[in-house]
Amino acid sequence: MKMGNVIVGQSGGPTAVINSSLVGIFQAARELGATKIYGMLHGVEGLLSDKYIDLSEHILTELDEELLKRTPSSYLGSCRYKLPDVKDDEKAYINIFNLLKKLEIEHFLYIGGNDSMDTIQKLSDYAKTKNINISFMGVPKTIDNDLVMTDHTPGFGSSAKYIGTVFKEIIRDGYVYGNKNVTIVEIMGRNAGWLTASASLSRMSDCPGPDMIFVPEIPFDISSFLTKVEDTQKRKSSLVIAVSEGLKDKDGRYICELSEHVVFTDSFGHKSLTGTADFLSDMVARKLGCKTRSIELSTLQRCASHIVSRTDINEAILAGGHAVKASYEGHSAEMIIFERISNDPYHIITKTCDIKLIANKEKKLPLEWLTDDRMFVKKEFFTYCRPLIQSELNPIMVGGLPLHLYNEELMF
Ligand code: F6P
Repeated sequence: MKMGNVIVGQSGGPTAVINSSLVGIFQAARELGATKIYGMLHGVEGLLSDKYIDLSEHILTELDEELLKRTPSSYLGSCRYKLPDVKDDEKAYINIFNLLKKLEIEHFLYIGGNDSMDTIQKLSDYAKTKNINISFMGVPKTIDNDLVMTDHTPGFGSSAKYIGTVFKEIIRDGYVYGNKNVTIVEIMGRNAGWLTASASLSRMSDCPGPDMIFVPEIPFDISSFLTKVEDTQKRKSSLVIAVSEGLKDKDGRYICELSEHVVFTDSFGHKSLTGTADFLSDMVARKLGCKTRSIELSTLQRCASHIVSRTDINEAILAGGHAVKASYEGHSAEMIIFERISNDPYHIITKTCDIKLIANKEKKLPLEWLTDDRMFVKKEFFTYCRPLIQSELNPIMVGGLPLHLYNEELMF
């Protein structure tokens, strides 16, 4: 039996491989004979104003598919839109389901993180109460690696590879003058320290790695931080320190909120975290009187498709493909998860998991993977992370720069 019409959306913060999941979905749906494969523009938020495209009119050739795999950020655009509770406001649901009916959708796939899985849960609950026969499947994605029930998430490996790489470069740069200097690098991840920990990957035979890392799982104390920096400076001139954007003090206040940055809050109640490194490097310069720099990796760490992990790309495609197959087989209200069967050789399998166990939950970095002083990671983290950053997928270069698949529908 041919697959019915499919619609796919991308939601939340983008990654370097989120479009590989889109490719996986597109290819699997095409192979299963889906007549129409639509893409929401800007996720469910765009759907509410009838914004969608027919993907077959945009992904035309094998070259387009190859380019899409190498195109960073969300090809379909994204949103941070929280569906209201149906008992408070049904209008959004009525609008979405009217459009799904008009497009004769039978399979709804959403590539996203824990907030986006909230959307899958709400829409599938609504469909169930109204006896609407549409399957809703989640495809995992987030650089933060904070989705529960899965070994890791597509997007994390590529960001970790980028962070490990740039730390090697930043550390080398710090040594050139031989004077006292402190570089503080701010890394995304919100309340989970997986990505900050991945700065440690730069510790190799040709690089000492960061001098300290500070993850959001551990309350941050400014005065012991300054003491630690001062002590370390007695034996080393150039220090490079990794800090999470989500560092909080013992009272639960984000360190970045201590600065004068305006803090924006999204519809899920997440604060936009920026300025931690800037605040701390200013503090070090004032209190310790040495040269400092702050580097905020910001969006660079989630859209660096030029140094993408091929393992990550392959797994993102796999997750997309498995979601389509599961949906075709009648699964709904589930997300694809990875289970690590073996680490050496590295081997994972994909499974499905009840969305209720995943939506709105956060997986933190295990504290037992931190060293006793809680400023570095133990070998368990390296063992976990290294397989995820293996191999590359070279960009297709044109005129000396990587070529991406252009979506003119988003450029307005
Ligand atoms: O979704 C992951 C993430 O990249 C977080 O690490 C970060 O805090 C957040 O997105 C930033 O989101 P935005 O780009 O919407 O400000």
